[in-house]
Amino acid sequence: MVTAVSSPAGSSVSLAVDVGGLRLANPVMPASGTFAEGLDKVMDLNRLGAFVTKTITREFRAGNPVPRVCETTEGLINSIGIPSKGLDYFRDNVVPFYGAFSPPLVVSISAPTVDDFAAMARDLTVAGVAAIEANISCPNIEEDGRSFAMEPRLTETVTAAMRKATPLPLWVKLTPNTGDIVAVARAAEAGGADAVVVANTILAMRIDTETFRPKLGNVLGGLSGPAVKPIALRMVYQCADKLTIPVIGCGGIATPEDAVEFMLAGARAVQVGTTTFVRPTAMIDVIEGLSAFCARRGIADVNELVGAVVDGNTAPEEAEAVL
Ligand SMILES: Cc1cc2nc3c(=O)[nH]c(=O)nc-3n(C[C@H](O)[C@H](O)[C@H](O)COP(=O)(O)O)c2cc1C
Repeated sequence: MVTAVSSPAGSSVSLAVDVGGLRLANPVMPASGTFAEGLDKVMDLNRLGAFVTKTITREFRAGNPVPRVCETTEGLINSIGIPSKGLDYFRDNVVPFYGAFSPPLVVSISAPTVDDFAAMARDLTVAGVAAIEANISCPNIEEDGRSFAMEPRLTETVTAAMRKATPLPLWVKLTPNTGDIVAVARAAEAGGADAVVVANTILAMRIDTETFRPKLGNVLGGLSGPAVKPIALRMVYQCADKLTIPVIGCGGIATPEDAVEFMLAGARAVQVGTTTFVRPTAMIDVIEGLSAFCARRGIADVNELVGAVVDGNTAPEEAEAVL
């Protein structure tokens, strides 16, 4: 497993991170739903820190009515609604595909009830699956965009049930559509999560001014892409030093500098989503750029970035000069 990437300057930077029970060769992985097996045609999948699958459900699901995506300024609104071929298909066909590659496989799951979430986690505790990412935050399943992760109590209950059901590392993906992200993150930790992913999409909508109809068949969808980055970054920052488990940053990451920003805010690793639709090899650029950034700044180990934000944007001596 490669843990150091040669920088353009020729020096070597360690990119390996320990996150949520897994040792990753580097901190960059796909965000669920924005990555699929076919990307092996455009990049060497062994270069990724981990694989995160599209969320799967136990039964076949067709997904939401079309149209399922619409563009907005610097972002995308989707109401895909988790189409899924079901758990058996996934276990028999998708898990073996990833077995040919070195990065660990993180399987994203969704279910309608606490017991079903636990049963999914149990039934996916199979060879080839390295960790479970519980998508308790999808805004596209319930009609009004609600999800477990909107409330601390439900978050702790569903996390604890999954914790009992599997010995695998358990990552819990949170929603920005909540009043108190820190309380929800703490609830996931209390329930036994090994990491939290911050965060899923922001509940959103658009209306076509010619037809007066919503642009999405589902009316509401989830906003992603660069438009959400400052909000996700803020949430990572708020959560990171309140938790003992790692935070995985997700939301609008498109460049190496975006990844650096999330790590400075406290993220131990990052997920790249919507950007992959625009530039399918963006994750490779982020990995290489992260290494080059560290080399340029004389940082030997990428972990040195984690939480290294300097609070207060004005150095004390500069503040005095202003006064
Ligand atoms: C088309 C699309 C499908 C998605 N499907 C899922 C999914 O199945 N499960 C999930 O947890 N998140 C899903 N997401 C959310 C992403 O994983 C990610 O949390 C969100 O898009 C923010 O990251 P980004 O701005 O880098 O895309 C989806 C996002 C998009 C745009």
